[in-house]
Amino acid sequence: MKKLAILGSGFGSNFEAIARYLKDVEIICISDKPDAYILKRAEYLNIPALVLTLDEMEKYFSENKFDLVALAGFMRIIPENILSKMGRCINLHPSILPAFKGKDAIKQAYLYGVKVTGITIHEVTPVLDSGRIIAQYPVIINDSMHYDELEETIHRVEHIIYPQVIEKLLNGEAVEFGVSFGNCGGKCEGKCKECGGGCEG
Ligand code: GAR
Repeated sequence: MKKLAILGSGFGSNFEAIARYLKDVEIICISDKPDAYILKRAEYLNIPALVLTLDEMEKYFSENKFDLVALAGFMRIIPENILSKMGRCINLHPSILPAFKGKDAIKQAYLYGVKVTGITIHEVTPVLDSGRIIAQYPVIINDSMHYDELEETIHRVEHIIYPQVIEKLLNGEAVEFGVSFGNCGGKCEGKCKECGGGCEG
């Protein structure tokens, strides 16, 4: 069975979307924050979880090997000495990189007035929100779109695209732009048949 480590520091909604989507993958949740809500989600999803400081990660990833390490709201720069122990490590970022790196990327894009933003999944390097791009998905900002609506749309897109990209990487398949929504337009948050979750949505 493939092994996936998901690292997060906060709310963990992407962790939950990934965990619900993937079948027959051994997942472990790792957080650097003992009070992060991602750990509660791991508990109710019955997924093993660990709290590790960044310093403890070097030893942990030297001794425990994964097919893929996926960052999902992990808000730390990972230095090269740890990255080299992790194997392949990818990150999700809520903008079309290289635009709007760092914190509050959705707000940065909205306030800048861009008409298209979106999400990026990329390889992790020790430089913030850099590394070769694996997948991107656009979100159009209409003139009448309120900030809250943009934020909600970005998260909905993340919850649908990131699990599909992770599945493809674990299976050694090419990631194409065509990872996509069903007829529901993504409203199901990844649960309907066409988006992959198996319910009627
Ligand atoms: C997501 O929107 C993700 O794109 C962003 O943090 C959020 C985590 O949400 N990541 C970054 O900004 C990385 N630079 P979650 O904890 O609910 O999955």
